[in-house]
Amino acid sequence: MNVLVLGSGGRENAIAWKISQSKDCDKLYAMPGNPGTAQLGQNLSGSPLDFCRVKQAVLDYSIDLVAVGPEEPLVRGLGDFFLADPDLKDVLFVGPCAKGAALEGSKDFAKQFMLRHGIPTARFRTFTLETLALADSFLESLNAPYVLKADGLAAGKGVLICQDLAEAKAELRNMLSGKFGNAGSRVVIEEFLSGIEVSMFILTDGKDFLLLPEAKDYKRIGENDTGLNTGGMGAVSPVPFVTAEFRNKVTDRIIKPTLRGLQEENIPYCGFIFLGLMNCGGDPYVIEYNVRMGDPETEAVVTRIDSDLLHHLAGCARGRIAEEKLEISATPALTVVCVSGGYPQSYRKGAEISISPDLLGAKGVNIFHSGTAFSDSGQLVTSGGRVFAVTANSCVTMRSKEYNTASEDFVRLIEEGRTACYSSVDKIGFEGKYFRKDIGLDIIRYLEG
Ligand code: AMP
Ligand code: GLY
Repeated sequence: MNVLVLGSGGRENAIAWKISQSKDCDKLYAMPGNPGTAQLGQNLSGSPLDFCRVKQAVLDYSIDLVAVGPEEPLVRGLGDFFLADPDLKDVLFVGPCAKGAALEGSKDFAKQFMLRHGIPTARFRTFTLETLALADSFLESLNAPYVLKADGLAAGKGVLICQDLAEAKAELRNMLSGKFGNAGSRVVIEEFLSGIEVSMFILTDGKDFLLLPEAKDYKRIGENDTGLNTGGMGAVSPVPFVTAEFRNKVTDRIIKPTLRGLQEENIPYCGFIFLGLMNCGGDPYVIEYNVRMGDPETEAVVTRIDSDLLHHLAGCARGRIAEEKLEISATPALTVVCVSGGYPQSYRKGAEISISPDLLGAKGVNIFHSGTAFSDSGQLVTSGGRVFAVTANSCVTMRSKEYNTASEDFVRLIEEGRTACYSSVDKIGFEGKYFRKDIGLDIIRYLEG
């Protein structure tokens, strides 16, 4: 099979890396890809938002399967474009159509959907400029902190958590008057949920699903979860509180009702669903749906999939995911993201990158590229805020597939993952390099009580 991966980040590098290992993979392409995907296949110029360019590439390179990394092409209808075009009818396409992608593209749609289908989520209401007075009264009926969400896509920045009522009212006005452009013309206000967050993922053909390994994301720039929100500074998989009991609750209360809801509303769905969950005293609540994999969670998650991801993707696109058997490695994975100094605010691009040669090919370590590029002279340079997602899988042979995430063994594995990951991070150099040193420490603290 010839495969095209759309996107250019660490997530796409990790997906391409996993697909490249499949015996079914003949040629692998990425559009636009990055220097990491260039090591695995061929990068094609163009944007995944330019649907005609994507079509041309699919035809020129005889692509059999398209895997979409980011949400925006899906929200804008790339899936519908493939369905409608007779030239593309035989191409396997992994990603929902726009109606399904609205689960991420519109927070209001997602919340109303959850309400209609009895899926646990924070209490909410949606407001516009016309209903500002009602929004103020709703805010007054809630307790601090206040959660405000721009309805539309806002590059991951559309959620504000305000500590007091005056700030919430002021931010609400900013959002409704264009702080996030059109994305904020409707604002969802919701109850604050306290608990521990976890990201869970399914690959579904709309009827059945594979439950992928879960992960914890580290969203804040500073250690101990301080400072500004980022796209994600690290990830760990598995997450100890995701026990069989918790997983069953997620399956019964969230995943199955979500798929049933999509069917009842005649929304065909083929692709990933990322459940951003809050564990509130052992009960899962949906914070958000995404219609793609997470970044940097993917970089940890795919390294724990032992079975053939390309086979699963093809099965999904053919509507036969029930026949797929997912195998998950018991070995934990830990991802540390190296960012450009200044991120998530302004930062420099074009810094020269050096990678120690003994790091390339190091056992159990993957250096996924996020924001790198080749300069005109062929030098690897930084080109984004998040530059690398370094992932380590502990090299220790597990005694049992059924190891207990609450065990001392697990603490040891996380510690080993941290050692491997951070010693690799130290072998990557660029001016202004910053990373969080505490990835995984909270898990160790949690396990040690
Ligand atoms: P989202 O973009 O919806 O994932 O929101 C960004 C972040 O805001 C989430 O990862 C949570 O940390 C936080 N968040 C969103 N909604 C809530 C909520 N209802 N209660 C508490 N935290 C929330
Ligand atoms: N890491 C969170 C996200 O991908 O949205």
